[in-house]
Amino acid sequence: MRFDIITVLPELLESPLNHSIMKRAKDKGLLEVHLHHLRDYAPGKHRQVDDYQFGGGAGMVMKPEPLSACIEKLLAERPYDEVIYMTPDGKRLDQEIGNRLSMKGNLMVLCGHYKGVDERIRQKYVTLEISIGDYVLSGGELAAAVLVDVVGRLIPGVLNDETSALFDSFQDNLLAPPVYTRPAVWEGMAVPEVLLSGNDKLIDEWRHDQSVRRTRERRPDIWEKYAGSEEE
Ligand code: ADE
Repeated sequence: MRFDIITVLPELLESPLNHSIMKRAKDKGLLEVHLHHLRDYAPGKHRQVDDYQFGGGAGMVMKPEPLSACIEKLLAERPYDEVIYMTPDGKRLDQEIGNRLSMKGNLMVLCGHYKGVDERIRQKYVTLEISIGDYVLSGGELAAAVLVDVVGRLIPGVLNDETSALFDSFQDNLLAPPVYTRPAVWEGMAVPEVLLSGNDKLIDEWRHDQSVRRTRERRPDIWEKYAGSEEE
């Protein structure tokens, strides 16, 4: 899978996407991330990428021309499954969107800054708008890094058995159960006995029970989805 990310701050994306599982995915040839510096597409000495809002009001808006120049160049090179704009008024990112996008080939991602991009760019090019939560970041880069991480680790072949996403929270509309490692007793607190029993069936049942309990207590919204899907 290939991500092309358009940004005014490529530095913000370099480190988060070059470590751990993202690095492994790239090393395995399963993930490519290409960063495109929007200023390279802005004309003039000042390489201006933003301008005042029509109608007045605080905050600058990202100009359409440099964005369009960069997007058109990329579109001419390959087809994209989605042109994604990271924005707080987009669809909230969840595991389901992550799963769906992990099956795609080429994704373009626009990172907004200031007050966002000129609305006409959204109208003309954007096919999917994604928010990572109900708060406002100073730019779309950290949100894009989250998106690449969520999607990247779900690409078939990126995770091995040990890191498998199958048992992640949200993967089946349940939160993950609690986990323990050695020592078996720490500060007087013992690991639940069933986990030391060696009985795989009992362990599976215990984990499922814990997942159900956690989900009901902490995320009744997700619990409803789970309970609904079990009824079908
Ligand atoms: N840009 C600024 N805030 C954002 C958010 N919450 N999600 C995605 N992109 C953003």
